[in-house]
Amino acid sequence: MAKIQSMGFLRGYFAIFGNVLCGKNLILGRIRCKQFSCCYHLRMSTIILNNGKPMPKIGIGTFLLKPEEAERAVFIALQNGYRSVDTANIYMNEKAVGRAIAKSGVPREEIFLTSKIWPSQFPYAKAKKAIDDTLRRLGVDYLDCLILHQAAGKYLEAYRALEEAVEEGKIRSIGLSNFYGKHFEKVLANAKIKPVLNTLECNPTCAQDHMRELLAKENIILESWYPLGGKGNTSIAEAPIFQELAKKYNKTPQQVILRWHLERGYIIIPGSKSENHIKQNLDILGFSLTAEEMAEIAKLNKEKQRLGVVGVARAFLPLLRMNFDKQE
Ligand SMILES: NC(=O)c1ccc[n+]([C@@H]2O[C@H](COP(=O)([O-])OP(=O)(O)OC[C@H]3O[C@@H](n4cnc5c(N)ncnc54)[C@H](OP(=O)(O)O)[C@@H]3O)[C@@H](O)[C@H]2O)c1
Repeated sequence: MAKIQSMGFLRGYFAIFGNVLCGKNLILGRIRCKQFSCCYHLRMSTIILNNGKPMPKIGIGTFLLKPEEAERAVFIALQNGYRSVDTANIYMNEKAVGRAIAKSGVPREEIFLTSKIWPSQFPYAKAKKAIDDTLRRLGVDYLDCLILHQAAGKYLEAYRALEEAVEEGKIRSIGLSNFYGKHFEKVLANAKIKPVLNTLECNPTCAQDHMRELLAKENIILESWYPLGGKGNTSIAEAPIFQELAKKYNKTPQQVILRWHLERGYIIIPGSKSENHIKQNLDILGFSLTAEEMAEIAKLNKEKQRLGVVGVARAFLPLLRMNFDKQE
């Protein structure tokens, strides 16, 4: 069982409020890289979800990115061959992500776009409105995946709203985020449309062995958030095994960590505002780790989350109400 630091999540979510206060509009040129179409098929490998739709194994994450940072990062990512973008209502950067997608010139149908709705919007009617609001902020007429961000509040009712949105063509797939144990089982028992993925805090120190097995049985993909351990956490990359493997494969330790996720069958959405890192994070398809190396990395696993929310803390999540439209 995962040991969870129950209040750690507050740090991250308080940081989000900083994002709301900052941010200027970025003026990015309407540059379209001609290499895209050929690079895309060569470099972007996909997983087929349980509804038959393909999803890129690597996407760009935007947690804690201010609007102008998110706009720049997503634009750079799309220019460099990424075709999957992860945002959320509560990141307060959906409008910026939408601008980056529009400016990139990449056809909408080439991009796997994911967002998440927060528990303050969970009863059925609020969730219906939240879906439309999310589409409007992103400037798109459908989402590839819409996720229930936390297993808190009336999530079953919200799930029903998501199922209707699939039928209405507003979303293509439904995802879960941070759903463990009884909450996960409850959704599966009630779902007419199965979720395609469950996104969980996951990296070599929190490898999610138990959930990995459970999700595999249900043919639901595990998508790793905090794939590198989260902003400001370099401890995983500093572990001797990643330093050694980086030398062996002529990669950075972070690239080796991301490769570990792919070997485990996980989808990854590393967050970055550095052009160099954004490029590096996609460049992990040309090597693989041996069974012995995977076994050595497994010794780092403590199933310990940094930002997980459990027990009584979960009850407070629906109270975190924000005006999601108040963003640049
Ligand atoms: N569903 C949820 O509850 C939930 C929670 C948290 C996050 N997420 C999603 O998951 C995504 C990933 O998580 P995260 O961004 O918080 O953490 P992360 O990807 O584990 O780590 C991001 C940090 O790693 C650095 N980094 C990225 N690539 C690097 C590289 N190649 N070399 C060295 N450093 C590198 C980044 O710095 P630079 O900017 O300098 O590159 C940033 O500080 C988020 O962006 C978000 O979309 C979901």
